[in-house]
Amino acid sequence: MKKYAEMTKAELQAELEQVKTRYAELKALGQNLNMARGKPSKQQLDMNGPMMDILRSDSDYMCDGIDARNYGNLEGLPACRKLFAELLDVKPEQIFVGGSASLQLMYDTIAKAYTHGRVMGPKPWAKLDKVKWLCPAPGYDRHFGISESFGMEMIPVPMTPEGPDMDLVEELARDPEVKGMWCVPKYSNPDGIIYSAETIRRIASLQHAAPDFLLMWDNAYCVHEFDGDYVPFPDILKECEKYGNADMVFEFASTSKITFPGAGISVFACSENNMAYMKKLLHAQIISYDKVNQLRHVRYLKDKAGVLALMKRHAEILGPKFRCVLDNLEREIAPLGIASWQKPKGGYFVSVNTMPGIAKATWKLCKEAGLTMTGAGATFPYGKDPQDSNMRVAPSLPPIGQLEQAMEIYCASMKLAALEKLLAE
Ligand SMILES: Cc1ncc(COP(=O)(O)O)c(C=O)c1O
Repeated sequence: MKKYAEMTKAELQAELEQVKTRYAELKALGQNLNMARGKPSKQQLDMNGPMMDILRSDSDYMCDGIDARNYGNLEGLPACRKLFAELLDVKPEQIFVGGSASLQLMYDTIAKAYTHGRVMGPKPWAKLDKVKWLCPAPGYDRHFGISESFGMEMIPVPMTPEGPDMDLVEELARDPEVKGMWCVPKYSNPDGIIYSAETIRRIASLQHAAPDFLLMWDNAYCVHEFDGDYVPFPDILKECEKYGNADMVFEFASTSKITFPGAGISVFACSENNMAYMKKLLHAQIISYDKVNQLRHVRYLKDKAGVLALMKRHAEILGPKFRCVLDNLEREIAPLGIASWQKPKGGYFVSVNTMPGIAKATWKLCKEAGLTMTGAGATFPYGKDPQDSNMRVAPSLPPIGQLEQAMEIYCASMKLAALEKLLAE
């Protein structure tokens, strides 16, 4: 098979007829498929069913001398802080256990910077004319949603295979209006990239003009390998401390993709100063989070070894799904030269970069043929992908049979969009 770019007009036309026929056949099946969001499948959720049987009315709710059912311990059950400290390689006293979503902790950390300011001052961001924010892109749409809802000016920073373009980050951080940055350092959403040691060093040692610069280190996929063994990852708190930036960083994680999304537990990890400051502010907001769910998680997951063993079982379900996506792309798209993609070993996404100018058209064709994909552009600040190229494929939710069908529609839609664009040029 020739690459589309090397085909004559007549060859493109002939290919278009064939692809159109196949697309029409797929559309006629009237499917209702979804590869839009990184949700665990029913099989994964069912696997964690036994966690719900751990606590019953006659169970022992005492943990380290604390009754998990009662008020108290704003920062979380000590056993739960210890569990996450082991996962993130930080100290238990650096962990704050929140509610069922790390996204809420992220939102709240930024909200507090707006209303009360950061621990290192100088004043609440709500009093500033402008707050600029660094957004490695493609990135997580909900991060950009938080920034947008606070009216930040989002500055896209291109992603490289090593993480965000650090030359640009270092240059932009010289602007005192730049107050922070989003990072998903391990199996980034959507690229599935692990930041290199050098990128981490440069981030941790960042010279920022804003004294209250906030590094939002969202380690959502810290133990989420689906191909191969657990990959150890540096503790960003220690790294930042090494370079005098201890108070710059908040790290986030949750059990959303370990146990139950929306019904798990979330944490932030931070310096001693930040912890004292946040606890003071949170004290006015809540008496204590859901320690019963914390206890359920501690008893079910036990320790890091327990979590990693469970992640292996997730991997048995997720691995074949990612292979299905990658095999289809390799077989159907690679020979045509109309897209490139990352081959992640963990996380929840495959990030596809189509030839410029066809991501939106591909998305529309998928939709019309019964396949919902993450909106083209969603992976960029303000939903604007300057190249109209990036598409996020989320293969975790559909059963493997449906995934095969979804990938057939996806590849046919991309081919059709590419051919129509090339023939129109
Ligand atoms: C990078 C990233 N952070 C956070 C979340 C959401 O986490 P939580 O359920 O803990 O709010 C997701 C979910 O897809 C994600 O991809």
